[in-house]
Amino acid sequence: MVDRKTEIEPIDGTPNKRMFLSIISDYNLRTGLCELVDNAIDLWMSGDRKNSLGVSIDLDADRQLISVKDNAGGVKRHELSVLIAPGESKNDLAAEVIGVFGVGGKRAGIALAEHVTIKTRFQEEESSELNITQDWLQTEDWVLPAYAIPDVEPGTTQVDMSHLRKSLRSEDIDELRTHLGETYNWFVNQGCTITVNGVPVVPIGFETWAFPPGYGPRLSRFEVDMGRDGKLSIELTGGLIRDRDPEKDNYGVYFYCNHRLIVKEERTRNVGYFVSGEAGVPHTDASLCRVIARMQGPAQLMPWNSSKNGINQGHLAFQQIRPRLIPLVSYFSSLSRRLKDDWDGHVFRHDVGEIQEVPATDIAGKRPVLPALPRTNKPRAERYKAENKVQLENKPWTLGLIESLAMVDVAERQRFETKNRISLILLDSTFEIALKEFIVHRQDLFPPKEYNDAEIRRLFGQRHLVTDAILKKMPALKPLFDTANHYYNQRNKLIHERATVDVADSDIKNYRRTVEHLLNSLFDLNF
Ligand SMILES: Nc1ncnc2c1ncn2[C@@H]1O[C@H](COP(=O)(O)OP(=O)(O)O)[C@@H](O)[C@H]1O
Ligand SMILES: [Mg+2]
Repeated sequence: MVDRKTEIEPIDGTPNKRMFLSIISDYNLRTGLCELVDNAIDLWMSGDRKNSLGVSIDLDADRQLISVKDNAGGVKRHELSVLIAPGESKNDLAAEVIGVFGVGGKRAGIALAEHVTIKTRFQEEESSELNITQDWLQTEDWVLPAYAIPDVEPGTTQVDMSHLRKSLRSEDIDELRTHLGETYNWFVNQGCTITVNGVPVVPIGFETWAFPPGYGPRLSRFEVDMGRDGKLSIELTGGLIRDRDPEKDNYGVYFYCNHRLIVKEERTRNVGYFVSGEAGVPHTDASLCRVIARMQGPAQLMPWNSSKNGINQGHLAFQQIRPRLIPLVSYFSSLSRRLKDDWDGHVFRHDVGEIQEVPATDIAGKRPVLPALPRTNKPRAERYKAENKVQLENKPWTLGLIESLAMVDVAERQRFETKNRISLILLDSTFEIALKEFIVHRQDLFPPKEYNDAEIRRLFGQRHLVTDAILKKMPALKPLFDTANHYYNQRNKLIHERATVDVADSDIKNYRRTVEHLLNSLFDLNF
C-alpha cells in the first residue's frame, strides 16, 4: 500500500502480434482484395490523375497464388513502414478518401495469405521489397527486414500472396469480377482499369429506374453537419426499378461512401424493413423499391464499418440520414405493392424520364412531396390479404380478423340506417376474438398447461379477466384496452338497456383505429 501517487516502472505498450488474429478474422477474398484496390485508388485520386490508373489482379486457382499490382505511384523507401505498421497511414482524415483506419492493406495481405511479398517503387526512385511471413507473425519482434531489388516499373506496387489461408476456387473469380464492377463502378467510369486475370472489370451501376407517369424516381440532396470535423454531402435517390431479378432479390438500400459501394440490397430494420408503417417485411411484392444513398466527405466522418462492407447504424451521421431515407424506402415499397397487378404495364415499360429533385426538408416529413399513392381497385379484403401475405402464411388464424375488418368497410358503404350499430358489434367481436387468438397461439406467453380449455372458458366469461391476463404480459397495451372498454360498454348497452344508443361515425372510426392498432401490436398486421 502506498499513501500517495508515486511513479513505478513504465509499462511497455508495444502491441502483441496476436492482434493480427483479430484484425484478419472477418476478412474474406472480396473485402481483402478491395482493400488493396482502395489503396491504389486513394493514391490516384489524391494525385493529379494525369495517368490513368491500372490495377491488375491475378488469381491462380491451380497454383493457389494471388497477385495485385497497381501503377498508382508506389511508396517511398523511407516510408515503407506504412505498409506494415498497424495504424500507419498517409491519408488525411479530412480527405474524401476510402482509407482512414490505417490497417486495411496490412489486414488484407495477412488475412489472405501466410506469405506476402510487397514490391514497390516510388516514381523513378529505387525499388524495395518487404516479406511478411508466418515466422515474422509468430515472433515478438516488430522489425521487418527490407530489401533493395532490381528496378520494377516506376510508380508501381505489387503484392504477391502465396500459402493462401483459404483455398481459392475458380467460382470465386467470376464472383469477384462482379463485385469489383459494382464496388468501383464510378472509378472505372472515370477511367480506372481494373483487370482480373487480364480481363477488364465491367462497371456495374444500379440506377436502372423506371419512370411511371407521376411516380418516377425522386432525388434529395442535403448536408449532414458533424460540427468541427466538417460536413457530409448526401444524395438520396429512390424509385422503382426495371432490372428486378427474383433470384437475386436485388432491391433495398444501396450505400456509397466517397463513390465506393459499401453495401447493396440492405433490407434490415436499420433502413425501415421489418417495421410496420415503414417498409414492412421484405417481400417480392415490394421488390421494385430501390434507394441509393451517396455520401461524400471527410473519410473520418463516414458511417462505414472497418471492413467497409456495412453501415454502422449507431453512427451519428447515419442517425441524421435515416429520417430522410426511411420515407423513401417506405413510399417506393408501398408503390411497388400497389402496382403489382401489372408491373409490366405500370412500371417496366416506362424506361425513359427524368429524376425529379425534391427538397430534403419535405422528405423528412410525412411524405408530403411524394405524390399520393395510386388507389388499388381491388376489394378491401384482397388488399388487406396482400398487405399481410407473410403474416397470413405464418399465422393463418389471423385471416378471420382481417376479413372482419374488411367487412366493417363493406358495412360502411351500405345505405343502412343502423350500419354503425352493425359495425360496432363487428369491431367489438373482432377485438375480443383477437385477444382469444393471442392467448391461444402465443404459447410462449400463455403455456397451454396453465391456460387449458377450462381456464380459457373461465377467462372469457368476463372480458376484464382476459384483458388483465394480457396486460400482465404487455402493459403497453393499456391505453388501447381503455378505449376498447369504452366501446365495449357502449355495445353492452345495445343488449342490456331499454333505450337503444346511437353510434356516431366518429366512434366507429375511432374504434376501428383501436382495433387496427391492436391487430398490429399482437400479430403485426397492417391495414
Ligand atoms: N498500393 C499502394 N500504393 C501506394 N501506397 C500505398 C499502397 N498501399 C498502401 N499504401 C500506403 O500505405 C498506407 C496504409 O495503407 P492501409 O493500411 O490500407 O491504410 P489506409 O488505407 O487506411 O491508409 C496508405 O495510406 C498508403 O500511403
Ligand atoms: Mg487502405
